Amino acid sequence: RDDGLARTPPMGWMAWERFRCETNCTDNPKNCISEELFRDMADRLSEDGWRELGYKYLIIDDCWMSTQRDKEGRLQPDPVRFPGGIPRLARYVHDRGLKLGIYADLGTHTCMGFPGTPLNKIQVDAQTFASWGVDYLKFDGCYSNAVEHMLGYPVMSEALNATGRPIVYSCSWPVYQGGLPPDINYTLLGEICHLWRNYVDIQDSWDSVEGIIDWFFNNQDDLQPAAGPGRWNDPDMLIIGNFGLSVDQARSQMALWAIMASPLIMSNDLRDLDPAMRAILQNKLVIAINQDPAGFQGRRLLKEKSGIQVFWRPLSHSYIALVFLSLRRDMPYRYSTCLSKLNISAGVYQVYDVFKSSTLPQINSTTDFTVTINPSGVVMWLIAPETQTRSEFRGQRSPI
Ligand code: GLA
Repeated sequence: RDDGLARTPPMGWMAWERFRCETNCTDNPKNCISEELFRDMADRLSEDGWRELGYKYLIIDDCWMSTQRDKEGRLQPDPVRFPGGIPRLARYVHDRGLKLGIYADLGTHTCMGFPGTPLNKIQVDAQTFASWGVDYLKFDGCYSNAVEHMLGYPVMSEALNATGRPIVYSCSWPVYQGGLPPDINYTLLGEICHLWRNYVDIQDSWDSVEGIIDWFFNNQDDLQPAAGPGRWNDPDMLIIGNFGLSVDQARSQMALWAIMASPLIMSNDLRDLDPAMRAILQNKLVIAINQDPAGFQGRRLLKEKSGIQVFWRPLSHSYIALVFLSLRRDMPYRYSTCLSKLNISAGVYQVYDVFKSSTLPQINSTTDFTVTINPSGVVMWLIAPETQTRSEFRGQRSPI
């Protein structure tokens, strides 16, 4: 949506993948969906360096609501788990320089069975969220049909606009209609939403991440042109820091999400994060690549029979990001190629290895080189033509 919001992919934290629908605060007080959980995460986002890196949206997912609307027909939070209501939480979040996101569902119920937002409640819910100080809405699509989606998603876009409050609008519409044209009109989505979920929910496993990567790049001809400033494909949350990914697999998720210009929305426990995982999520160069202002979503260039795949994203100032991914299961694989085989034009290039934080010897487009890629791991390069004045890359001193 072209209104000045989400000019780069939104970054932040969302409760769902890690904390799901835990509502039992008696037995599980530290991990239940409650005001306290979001205050804890707001503390971590603001005190542990996340906000400065761009991770500023703190997003409530499903299961925050009371089972009933209030007497005026407005949604209300569970009174025990959110004793201060959403406005108090919004103040807490805003006082820390962060933004608050919330979840609702176009339909009779949310996916977990809480009160939905049917067509005739869209305006009142948009008004309620704006009056609470909400800055982001994830609008899910359980318990409604294709016709209701076609009617409801544009109406919510209008209703949010009409509140006068800048609210980032995330639409789950494509997920429920197969995610591809002709059922999905990505031109229309780009006009009404800032981001949209295209495909199935991520789970805490490499299988899930690999399946998502595969689907997005198999369908890149339909999906890639849809993205740009203010309109992003959303392959779902970063699960880095949970239980399902090795360090190499975590780098792979981060690298591919940067290539795809995906929202960087973590779902993990920021109170208890492995230092290696934190370093991946806080890698400034990967973040800068993800947040490149040109907003051009990258593409898969090659899918080798050996199980190696090569991905490419052109960036501002003639920089390019390259990712070499191994889907092998045996051992580190030595992959040899040269830039001309990747259709990168003639010239001399500076190369920087993003995860090793090291500069490599200059190469030209026909220099053969070999990268060693771990099983389910990546090698990620930032490259720039030698002629480029390398004073700056996205506000940081350029490494090359
Ligand atoms: C759907 C969404 C998830 C999450 C759950 C909540 O499955 O795709 O991201 O919001 O609903 O119930």
